[in-house]
Amino acid sequence: MLLKEPIEIGKIRIANRLVMPPMHTGKSPDGKVTPEQIAYYVRRSGGGAVGLMITEFAAVSRQGRATPVQVSMAEDSVIEGHRALVEAVHQEGSRVICQINHAGSAAQEKVTGMKAVAPSAVLSPRAGKEDELPRPLSVDEIRKIEEDFVAAAQRVKAAGYDGVEIHGAHGYLYNQFFSPLLNRRRDAYGCDSVENRARIFTETIRLMRESLGTEFLIAVRFGGCDYTPGGSTLEDCVSGARLLAEAGTDLLDISGGICGPNLKDVTRPGTFWEAGRAVKQAVDIPVIVTGGVTTADQAEAILRAEEADLVGVGRALLKDPDWAKKAMNASAKR
Ligand SMILES: Cc1cc2nc3c(=O)[nH]c(=O)nc-3n(C[C@H](O)[C@H](O)[C@H](O)COP(=O)(O)O)c2cc1C
Repeated sequence: MLLKEPIEIGKIRIANRLVMPPMHTGKSPDGKVTPEQIAYYVRRSGGGAVGLMITEFAAVSRQGRATPVQVSMAEDSVIEGHRALVEAVHQEGSRVICQINHAGSAAQEKVTGMKAVAPSAVLSPRAGKEDELPRPLSVDEIRKIEEDFVAAAQRVKAAGYDGVEIHGAHGYLYNQFFSPLLNRRRDAYGCDSVENRARIFTETIRLMRESLGTEFLIAVRFGGCDYTPGGSTLEDCVSGARLLAEAGTDLLDISGGICGPNLKDVTRPGTFWEAGRAVKQAVDIPVIVTGGVTTADQAEAILRAEEADLVGVGRALLKDPDWAKKAMNASAKR
């Protein structure tokens, strides 16, 4: 079975093609990793049956917090807790990378204590009725956010993670820059070209690579297609993916949907398979596809069809913590 085959990504070897995608647990009231979270990740690793775990979105700054119970990567005091999580997961035999995020216009003032920011004064598709228009970022502020991502990635490395993942999907800040629905700027970060819409990504990736070296994985969860009229298209997704790869990304975790990854029009397992296949043909770095996979056979079919190099399984693994172990045992019998 392809699902059981190891893969080298950058300088990191991953034991198989099964990925646990990032899923917010809401278990960090003070931003620090809790023993409950460590137990949750250890349990889902299935003794290393999940080759690569990607931990839930961690905020890069107070301004970028999405929820009051979100884990943080914004200050050095959180590193110790993350280190305990990484050691426990490594002991199980899984690799683990940490997703980092800025919520942009999806951040709420009642959580952050400050007005939400965004590429342009356009309401987040995730906004509630009471939310106000976000404040457009200046170029200096964009550069500061890029630095916040680099500082957070340095903490991720200090905690011992195998890599970092920039959250660039599901309507959060980096996705807001890439989406013509939300980015109305006319400057170098604006909506006039895919290069400009991707600039915050490419600048951040280059800065991270300079500061973190080549041994450390840099992944991007890329929501390159909005699946919404007027939004970014499949072609934009492929062009954007090329730019991210050229900037030094090691791994592309393809997702999408400006309001989140559950698309009502796609019911086939491996929701972003079409984008995954097109991106795989355009770049020579590995690609993850996630969404709606509930059996090992479905994951295997995605790999066989060359729609992805790795497959994410989220809710099925949440529901049944032994899912990965069972899937790997089932595939051993074939
Ligand atoms: C409870 C929950 C929390 C999630 N949190 C995140 C997150 O922190 N970052 C992210 O990129 N996606 C997040 N997602 C999306 C998942 O990573 C995944 O893309 C989605 O659940 C579809 O895959 P599945 O059908 O295998 O669950 C979350 C999904 C769920 C169900």
